[in-house]
Amino acid sequence: MNDTLKTIMNRKSVRKFSDKTISPEDIKTILQAGMSGPSCVNSRCWSFVVVRDKDKLLQMADANVRYADPLRGAALGILVCGDLSRTEFFANAREFWAIDGAIAAQNMILAAESLGIGSCWLGTWPVEERVANQAALFDLPEHIVPHSVIALGYPADDVPPGPRPGRPEWDADRVHWETW
Ligand SMILES: Cc1cc2nc3c(=O)[nH]c(=O)nc-3n(C[C@H](O)[C@H](O)[C@H](O)COP(=O)(O)O)c2cc1C
Repeated sequence: MNDTLKTIMNRKSVRKFSDKTISPEDIKTILQAGMSGPSCVNSRCWSFVVVRDKDKLLQMADANVRYADPLRGAALGILVCGDLSRTEFFANAREFWAIDGAIAAQNMILAAESLGIGSCWLGTWPVEERVANQAALFDLPEHIVPHSVIALGYPADDVPPGPRPGRPEWDADRVHWETW
């Protein structure tokens, strides 16, 4: 298996992190990966809020209301946002913005994995309370919509690699060949 496939297959959510910080170069690489995915009519309709401040990370965790504890020990939190001002070319299908945000988030997660940095996706949009809280916390303009939060850091302890009970490597039932 090549290195790219190993990165994809071995990725797993990491929820406990060591105290080690992430270098500015690696942060930039992760963000660059986020900016490298496909986007609807090349709208690149996302923006990222990058947070290293520990107090702000705690506030982000509170803003996501539930299941956001990974942020409390993270070295870095990235709020992935949709930029609705960039969606005019697909005004009849603006929801594509959310797909672009998800692609950016996943690209960053995979880039982090390839650098030995663990991450956990914390769902924000479309949970209205979470979206409103994150928007208020960062004083976002109207056209910027919180999509998801990615908690990142070096893993605290060995998390088993990707395939495991509940996440098989191959699930034949999910594949339909030629027709449903
Ligand atoms: C849209 C989305 C929302 C998620 N929200 C949370 C969350 O709020 N808290 C959390 O700990 N994990 C969250 N996760 C991570 C999933 O729980 C995790 O990906 C899933 O259990 C599979 O485990 P794995 O990532 O280790 O393969 C989310 C993942 C996605 C894609």
